[in-house]
Amino acid sequence: MEVSVLIPAAGKGERLGLGPKAFLRVGGRTLLEWTLAAFLEAAEVLVALPPGASPPRGLRATFLEGGETRQESVARLLEAASLPLVLVHDVARPFVSRALVERVAKAARAQGAAVPVLPVPDTLIRPEGEAYGAALPREALRLVQTPQGFFTALLREAHAYARKQGLSATDDAQLVQALGYPVALVEGERTAFKVTYPEDLFLAEALARVWNG
Ligand code: CTP
Ligand code: MG
Repeated sequence: MEVSVLIPAAGKGERLGLGPKAFLRVGGRTLLEWTLAAFLEAAEVLVALPPGASPPRGLRATFLEGGETRQESVARLLEAASLPLVLVHDVARPFVSRALVERVAKAARAQGAAVPVLPVPDTLIRPEGEAYGAALPREALRLVQTPQGFFTALLREAHAYARKQGLSATDDAQLVQALGYPVALVEGERTAFKVTYPEDLFLAEALARVWNG
């Protein structure tokens, strides 16, 4: 697959409390190893690690030092990307299927920017202080996942614009959207959930036993 895969993996994993997620073992493999398995067919894989972390051996990837924020880590990875299409994927989503990777890559190649989304299962509210506040129409809302695919030049422009304007965002699509470029949606997958809290490891361990991506 003619894409540069950018893996921001430089987070501290503070909510999980078990050190950087890249090196966390689930079912005998690190989250980084699980993640890379979905991108074996990619022409180039670049990984941002926490400053000072030693790059793991024997993995087919190029390692560099991440930044203070996810956005900064992606910006550094983008500088090193050498192909015209990039897929940005969080190491915190180790169980992403090759089918989802291909779906995003295909849409991004055709439209310049594409992200996977899912419907929201819970009722959503905007609390007013300690009170319930207003419910949001969940049918109108979506959960956004990675991988997110972009023309490399477009994402570079979006990051440069964000830096100039002082914008910060938790994903890359927001920055592309801020430029005024439309981001296409593809269907996400529940198994590509984000490992964020300690309880998420129960599902991760269970998936690791049956996963064949
Ligand atoms: N990330 C990064 N560089 C940072 C911060 C985050 O590359 N300075 C990456 C994480 O490694 C992760 C992704 O961004 O793959 C999404 O971040 P998140 O789920 O918040 O992971 P952490 O930042 O590690 O966790 P926490 O916020 O709980 O510390
Ligand atoms: Mg974080």
